[in-house]
Amino acid sequence: MAAKIIDGKSISKKVKEEIKSEVQKLREKGVVPKLTVILVGDDPASQVYVRNKEKSASQVGIISETIRLPESTKESELLELVKRLNDDPEVDGILVQLPLPEHISKDSVIETISPDKDADGFHPYNLGRLLAGIPSVIPCTPNGIMRMIDEIGFELKGKNAVVVGRSVIVGKPVAQLLLARHATVTICHSRTKNLEFYTKNADVLVVAVGKPEIISGSHIKDGAVVIDVGINRRDDGKLVGDVHFESAKEVASWITPVPGGVGPMTVAMLLYNTVYLAKLHHGIDS
Ligand code: GUN
Repeated sequence: MAAKIIDGKSISKKVKEEIKSEVQKLREKGVVPKLTVILVGDDPASQVYVRNKEKSASQVGIISETIRLPESTKESELLELVKRLNDDPEVDGILVQLPLPEHISKDSVIETISPDKDADGFHPYNLGRLLAGIPSVIPCTPNGIMRMIDEIGFELKGKNAVVVGRSVIVGKPVAQLLLARHATVTICHSRTKNLEFYTKNADVLVVAVGKPEIISGSHIKDGAVVIDVGINRRDDGKLVGDVHFESAKEVASWITPVPGGVGPMTVAMLLYNTVYLAKLHHGIDS
């Protein structure tokens, strides 16, 4: 069976249209959502991601501002900037692009962002709310994955969901979201023995480990939904996911491509979070 493609580009376009009309309504009430992105250093991939965020924000009517700082920025300077933005009433969402230079503690920076301006949903307060099942700002990639699963009409209740990867940004939060939707969730990681034993039993398989093509068709249950979060450059220059697409698509019923799968959803959900925070900030009910 050749799997159907979960087209992240077209789903993200639909999400952005929804956000655009939401922003329009907010603007009529005098509220213009604003996202401030901080980029430290000149990591080439981060430059591309940040430009994408700026472009997408302006497409939907969100004001975006990027503050670019040199690699040599001291942690204390960055923390001061974040505090200033926390206190700035014009700013609804703050995002500090990762990775940060080695001399800056990512955890200190994330914990300094006010939880009600945390556009990434990475603050421990927001992650704790997610764990407790209390409405909160949800990390963008996990939220985008859930939207993709909903768009194909897949019912999660009672299904086996396997997440490969346990990062705070993707693996752990997506596992919580799947659990909240009544899936039976298993998290696998680099020390998991006999990975195939778990992945072969997955009705939904989410792979977020950052290792090129480590999951192939032989790891996948017939008819599974496969979500590939990875984006890796192979030695021959080709961009590939964590899943070997050609073999996986012969076994899965639905699969996300790389590129054009989860990636565009992450940006769309960042805009979603910015609007969520702007409404929170201005006391507007959803
Ligand atoms: N770097 C790569 N992905 C992300 C993301 O989703 N948020 C932030 N802040 N940095 C990133």
